[in-house]
Amino acid sequence: MRSSIIISLLAVGLTSAAPAEVSVSKRHDSFKVQVGDRPYFLIDDMDDGSLKRKLESCKNQESKISKFAIGHRGAPLMYPEHTAESYHAAARQGAGAIECDVAFTKDRKLVCRHDHCDLHTTTNILTFPELAAKCTTPFTPYDPVTGKAASAKCCTTDITLAEFKTLCGKMDGSNPNGTTIASYMDGTPPYRTDLYSTCGTLLTHKESIKLIDSYNRDFTPECKTPAVKMPFNGYTQENFAQDIINEYKAAGIHPSRVWPQSFLPADVFYWIKAEPKFGKQAVYLDERVDTPEGYANATASLPALAKAGVKIMAPAFFAMTKLDKNNKIVPSEYAIAAKKAGMELIGWSFERSGFLKTGGGYYYDYVNEVINNDGDMYTVLDVLAREVKILKMFSDWPATVVYYANCMGLP
Ligand SMILES: *[C@@H]1O[C@H](CO)[C@@H](O)[C@H](O)[C@H]1NC(C)=O
Ligand SMILES: *[C@@H]1O[C@H](CO)[C@@H](O)[C@H](O)[C@H]1NC(C)=O
Repeated sequence: MRSSIIISLLAVGLTSAAPAEVSVSKRHDSFKVQVGDRPYFLIDDMDDGSLKRKLESCKNQESKISKFAIGHRGAPLMYPEHTAESYHAAARQGAGAIECDVAFTKDRKLVCRHDHCDLHTTTNILTFPELAAKCTTPFTPYDPVTGKAASAKCCTTDITLAEFKTLCGKMDGSNPNGTTIASYMDGTPPYRTDLYSTCGTLLTHKESIKLIDSYNRDFTPECKTPAVKMPFNGYTQENFAQDIINEYKAAGIHPSRVWPQSFLPADVFYWIKAEPKFGKQAVYLDERVDTPEGYANATASLPALAKAGVKIMAPAFFAMTKLDKNNKIVPSEYAIAAKKAGMELIGWSFERSGFLKTGGGYYYDYVNEVINNDGDMYTVLDVLAREVKILKMFSDWPATVVYYANCMGLP
């Protein structure tokens, strides 16, 4: 007892110099995948039909790791995103790959965060006055006179790695009506939970590699668009894209296990040219599809992108389905064009929409009319898997996708 106190005091003392690495002491190769209860809840909720019967027929299947399922930010439906706890959960649920969105700190160290500037909603940074004071935009409470929403903006580039490592991960969210820091931070959507949001362990990109490798899973780092003007103190966008790859090389990870992604086409082309072994699995995240005109342009651009060496496109999954004239969910023009150009498709992100009873919103944009219960998400996944033939699906709760993939005999 006493010695452990001394050790922990020492550890605290050390963090001010060099942040202690999250220890990943053992490999988890023999860990049994467990999908838990949620897939069964969704299947029970499905409309009657052959897909429901097929999924029910798998209820006693042995769960296996599935390459088809990617842990999107880990398993953030219930765990604070991009924390060790979230990644462990994704691994236990059988995700074949786990995502670290890569951002950099003021001292240019790579860390896992969805956005360069989301520390005010994904961590407890505002509760530390000396760190909160370093935020790009400090906290302003809701103003009842003008009705102006509460706000703050805290970026990884505002603080050093050592400071970053003192933070706790929390469920992403904020309350625009917050009149205090505590009430501002209390904004978890009702379909998520704060049950596991005790103090999520933040990770460097390097630590994420170690953790994910301990489960022998694949990696899908995303080069997050910087919020600061590049170059940042001499650090160029190419340096950033290269540093991400370098950390896999340093860890001895085979390029076939790495699926680097970016919304910036220049990053994708950089990897294709400078790091071809990694670049051939580079994932072009396509947000052009978010407007009707952009969707048409994106669809038209696919043959040229394929010719330029892009092998994998990843739009939000709504862009890969549509309704035909009989209101049947079918592959979209974009999906058909990508396949015709010989490209693979990856979808994002399943389990991110909460309750589907009113049509599902953004991720179900072209099929909203036929979505009216949570079980409908399996109907959409089935079209994506069997008709669009997507390679993989990101999910905020990978278990749901793992259950489906195991049942359908997908890898
Ligand atoms: C904020 O307050 C307004 C006005 O009272 C209310 O309509 C809105 O639902 C509140 N938002 C949240 C997230 O609580
Ligand atoms: C679509 O392409 C046209 C023709 O090249 C261009 O003028 C337009 O700005 C593009 N729109 C979007 C949203 O990308």
